[in-house]
Amino acid sequence: MIGGRQAARPTSDRDALVPAVMRRSRAAGNAPWDPDPELEMPAPFRWTAVLFAALGALAALDAALVGLGLVPTHAGLLWLRVHLVTLGLLAELAFGLLPGLVALATGGAVPVFRPGRWLLLNLGLLTLLVGIPLVRRPMIALGGTLVLAATVWLILELWRQRPAPAPDAGVQPASGRRFYLAALLFLVVGGLVGTGLWLGWGPGLGIRVPRETHIHANIWGFASLLMAGLLVDLAPALSDRAGLGRRAANLVLGSLSLGAGLLLVAPWTGLSWLMLPGILLYILATALLYRRLVLPLFPLGVGARLLLTSYLWILLPALALPLIVLGGERVSAARLEPVGPSILTYGWLLPALLALAPAAASLVAKAAPTGRVASGSKPEAIREGSRMVGPPRLGGSERVWVACSFVPLALAASIGFPELAAPARSLAFVLLAGLLASFARTLMDLPDPADAAAT
Ligand code: HEM
Repeated sequence: MIGGRQAARPTSDRDALVPAVMRRSRAAGNAPWDPDPELEMPAPFRWTAVLFAALGALAALDAALVGLGLVPTHAGLLWLRVHLVTLGLLAELAFGLLPGLVALATGGAVPVFRPGRWLLLNLGLLTLLVGIPLVRRPMIALGGTLVLAATVWLILELWRQRPAPAPDAGVQPASGRRFYLAALLFLVVGGLVGTGLWLGWGPGLGIRVPRETHIHANIWGFASLLMAGLLVDLAPALSDRAGLGRRAANLVLGSLSLGAGLLLVAPWTGLSWLMLPGILLYILATALLYRRLVLPLFPLGVGARLLLTSYLWILLPALALPLIVLGGERVSAARLEPVGPSILTYGWLLPALLALAPAAASLVAKAAPTGRVASGSKPEAIREGSRMVGPPRLGGSERVWVACSFVPLALAASIGFPELAAPARSLAFVLLAGLLASFARTLMDLPDPADAAAT
């Protein structure tokens, strides 16, 4: 029975720092990594993510051909390329995984898959994927509204998945839930600003630099908090080490949210100096996460190396930001602006997702075959999914790691050496195409419910 299940309670202070996801498994007499048979990443989200990853690979190949001068460029394709990763992969996987992850971590009831939410998100994404490159304003307004509606629906869902009050809150293990909620609030703001970029409502809202405001809300806010939440939930399950305690998690959540908030307000108001305290808080929180949750994974092999290296590509640009803000026009604008967001997206976000998403998917994978309905849920609920066949493992391989390291290096070289910009970018996009194709393959290879039924 699914509805109303409770987390296994901690039996000691040390045990209390072990996340509910592992305690529940142990209480059932399973190894810490054994899957909960009633959890899953709904198949529609997985397959849509596969589709967008494959489309992203084709868009990256197109960019490589543009770089070599073999085909003419099209301004709208830059948007498409970036958002196939940020919306097509990151948002899609977040929508698919978060309800299951939160249920695992809080020990609460598992929400059923909502086909309506999948439809809202994907109708919105497809409308934007057509509307933005064509600069078709009604489609942009509609697409943005649908994505925002789906996001608000997910926020309400996660909000309802509150953990049961624990007897000793002081030693309660941290869960990623509040990180996810904060991340999604940033997505609402970032999505609103992004939708308005072509509709021109920036000045009406007093936004001084709308494009930066949008990027800051989504990268420093949405993506960073989402990844932090995944780390909080996954790191202990991956290494069987105690995770972050409540206090440390509160510190990370507070600093990251406030830092990202200041980084959002700075371009919104035109008060650039706000970026300095913002980035300081952001760096402190990320360094703490790195020290406590990422570094201890190092013995786990190439997936951990991928995660370690990817985080350098958010920490390095973050450290450079004060120099850019203080250095003014000399350092910033013309050369950094077109490439900087791509370095963050393909150097940090994509590799971190490549490492964490398969682990998250396997953690919430479902061992039961399709067709089971959660108690208290609607009978028409679609219950498809995959199941885990071993301990959750970080994604990645030696080849993926090498490619992930060279993509941001080549993009950075295109800033530093303008004469090499075209071949460097082409190299980066060929590698990116390979990475996205490999990501699509990884997601496709998650075991099918039919296999689960057979074993
Ligand atoms: C409703 C959702 C979204 C909408 C409507 C939207 C819209 C836009 C628009 C119109 C641009 C400007 C393109 C240009 O300057 O030519 C942009 C740029 C960008 N967006 Fe979004 N966006 C959305 C979600 C996201 C998310 C979730 C992320 C990241 C997690 C993101 C990251 C970026 C980045 C990095 C750029 C800069 C791309 C570049 O110039 O290199 N966006 N977005």
